[in-house]
Amino acid sequence: MFGFFSRKGPQVAHISPSGTSIEVGPEDNLLKAALDKGLAWPHNCRVGSCGQCKCRLVSGKIKPLNDFSYVLSGEELEAGMILACQTRLRSEVEIEVALDQTAAKLSPPKSIGGVIANARQLTHDILAVHIKLDESIPPYLAGQYAELSVPGVIDKPRSYSFASAPEKELPGHVSFYIRHVPNGEMTTWLHAENRAGHRVSVTGPYGSFWLRDSNAPMLCIAGGSGLAPIKALLEQVSERGFQRRVVFVFGARTRDDLYCLDDMRRIKERGKGQFDFIPVLSREPESSDWNGLRGNCTDILSYDGFDIPNSHAYLCGPPGMIDSAIDALARGGMSQENIFFDKFFDASNMQGARA
Ligand SMILES: Cc1cc2nc3c(=O)[nH]c(=O)nc-3n(C[C@H](O)[C@H](O)[C@H](O)COP(=O)(O)OP(=O)(O)OC[C@H]3O[C@@H](n4cnc5c(N)ncnc54)[C@H](O)[C@@H]3O)c2cc1C
Ligand code: FES
Repeated sequence: MFGFFSRKGPQVAHISPSGTSIEVGPEDNLLKAALDKGLAWPHNCRVGSCGQCKCRLVSGKIKPLNDFSYVLSGEELEAGMILACQTRLRSEVEIEVALDQTAAKLSPPKSIGGVIANARQLTHDILAVHIKLDESIPPYLAGQYAELSVPGVIDKPRSYSFASAPEKELPGHVSFYIRHVPNGEMTTWLHAENRAGHRVSVTGPYGSFWLRDSNAPMLCIAGGSGLAPIKALLEQVSERGFQRRVVFVFGARTRDDLYCLDDMRRIKERGKGQFDFIPVLSREPESSDWNGLRGNCTDILSYDGFDIPNSHAYLCGPPGMIDSAIDALARGGMSQENIFFDKFFDASNMQGARA
């Protein structure tokens, strides 16, 4: 059943219960090979932090790229669970994973070249990057993300969420909102000067953060550049005509960190009373004339006015903020299956990075 032990050539992974087989190159991880083949493998961070890519090794030899015990429990390890994003193959393997049924119907990702058409500063640390692609990207859903690289400059791709619903983009264009991460390679390069005209490569679409079919009240919470996929989702709700009550709580430090306010106003106009945008500032000076809410965006979940147990939540932004929002929503009575999120992991969240 198994091939010969080899470190050099590609190895085959047989995936059950879908019955698919994929080839995994010697330098590729299992998740990357599966996503490149268009398999709807659950995932988020791709750096061994979130645990969403976990699957069961039924048979065969693997090489873990990191210690799975940072993320997986003792029982999961006992049961043969592994993290696909941290796994290289050392032999033919058999793997059990439940593929995402909706994602299975989506187009497989594709790598497409393009050029930065313009880059516009939205706040002191967030840049809107518009890219004109050489050809259209396969259809994506609002909320999904792509991988961006700059050939010859930054070859290792970084993930960025599409900042607009597909119907709001010009054909063959995509946009991302990119926050400067201090000492971050890609974002320091992008923010250093106007990079319009530079060639880039965009691979996608990826991810399973998209609007679920439901008219349940929708509570969106985002911080920083996490606004991007939420804006795309809201544009989709707005384009379809608001069939549900929607509240978007946006956490920022000061008024200087607020952006897309005109987009939010436009969505509110179309919402005809169904949509509220609530910015919450955590570090606005006491002396300022800001008369909106202050504190952490998750604090306001304890306020009256949200029917938390009967709502769906869509969360996006820094991992710490999402974790506290999930805790607050669970305490408020929301069931886990109605909480959808994308955590913006970066290399500092890599499994073991801080160990
Ligand atoms: C699904 C998804 C969607 C995302 N969408 C967006 C988005 O729409 N907008 C957005 O702004 N961001 C988004 N991100 C985050 C984005 O992918 C990048 O991680 C981020 O932009 C930082 O990239 P960088 O190259 O500048 O930083 P990197 O060079 O990757 O470094 C990031 C940080 O980690 C530190 N670091 C680097 N290597 C290590 C190490 N080995 N150990 C410890 N620390 C280390 C660096 O000093 C830096 O502080 C998303 C992430 C995910 C997973
Ligand atoms: S995608 Fe593998 S641990 Fe997050």
